[in-house]
Amino acid sequence: MSTVLDTEQATDVGSADAYESLIARLSQQSVVKHFDAYADVPWDDPDYRIDPADPRWELDDDDPLGATDWYKAQAQEVRARIGLHGIVNAMKTGLQFESVLKRGLLEYASTLPNGAPEFRYAYHEVIEEAHHSLMFQEFVNRSTLDPPGMPKLMQIGSRGVVKLGRRFPALFFLFVLGGEDPIDYVQRQELRSSKGIHPLLERIMRIHVTEEARHLSFARSYLKRHVPELSWAKRQMLAVRVPFILGTMAGTMLRPSSEMVRRYRIPKSVLEEAFDDNPQARQFVRDSLRKVRNLCVELGIVTLVSKRLWKAFGIWDEPAAA
Ligand SMILES: [Fe+2]
Ligand SMILES: [Fe+2]
Repeated sequence: MSTVLDTEQATDVGSADAYESLIARLSQQSVVKHFDAYADVPWDDPDYRIDPADPRWELDDDDPLGATDWYKAQAQEVRARIGLHGIVNAMKTGLQFESVLKRGLLEYASTLPNGAPEFRYAYHEVIEEAHHSLMFQEFVNRSTLDPPGMPKLMQIGSRGVVKLGRRFPALFFLFVLGGEDPIDYVQRQELRSSKGIHPLLERIMRIHVTEEARHLSFARSYLKRHVPELSWAKRQMLAVRVPFILGTMAGTMLRPSSEMVRRYRIPKSVLEEAFDDNPQARQFVRDSLRKVRNLCVELGIVTLVSKRLWKAFGIWDEPAAA
């Protein structure tokens, strides 16, 4: 299996022609390199079976929770189950996010005039996301665990994001990057590491990063092309709302769900040690947002006021560090 991961296409979209030809290339890629959730994943191969006690699910020292003495003191089966539970909850969250994304993309596409190249690409992306969600849900089902995914409040709040696809697509695509960029960052790190990854998880992640490279490229290009055309007032709205969205999402995505905390009785002090008082974990969150943060700087939507919000959420880093 190839170890080279597809990366984003160059996004120089300074002219309308360059922007349209990028969208045409991305659309063509969706035709020649796409995956089917069932035809392209050997679900019933005995090597792909999910055993919750499999030591390959265990968290290692690179993981904030895995590094704690509390985690290391758990029985092997519990350590493995906690690792698997984190994966399936992230997948459930991912497919709930993709549901919002698909509905928002359809809203966005419904506003486009005949002949708009974005229409075709948006539909390719909806189709690909539907296959991702089928893969994630199938994995969750086979794990025999029952993760809730996003916290309830976030699920309710996310319904408003769907409408942004029609009313304020620039904010919608920044929300999209806020979800896709950190996950892509985490999955690429996992795939590049030398850890023994379960083959089913590896297959799903490889399919995912390949197609996400195109989605990220489209979202970034859309923003580079359209944010400069927005009114001053709309750009101010982006400046203030984006750090709220990113800060809230990153905070919940990269730590255990409250259901996991209850089920495994993870003490509050352990969570503080692993996440709140851990400079490395906090840096990891900032790193996972680096690309979208740098894009916001490039788009001119990090203002003096909004930078304070980024800092308050603990997601700011100076762009020079990139
Ligand atoms: Fe996806
Ligand atoms: Fe995507």
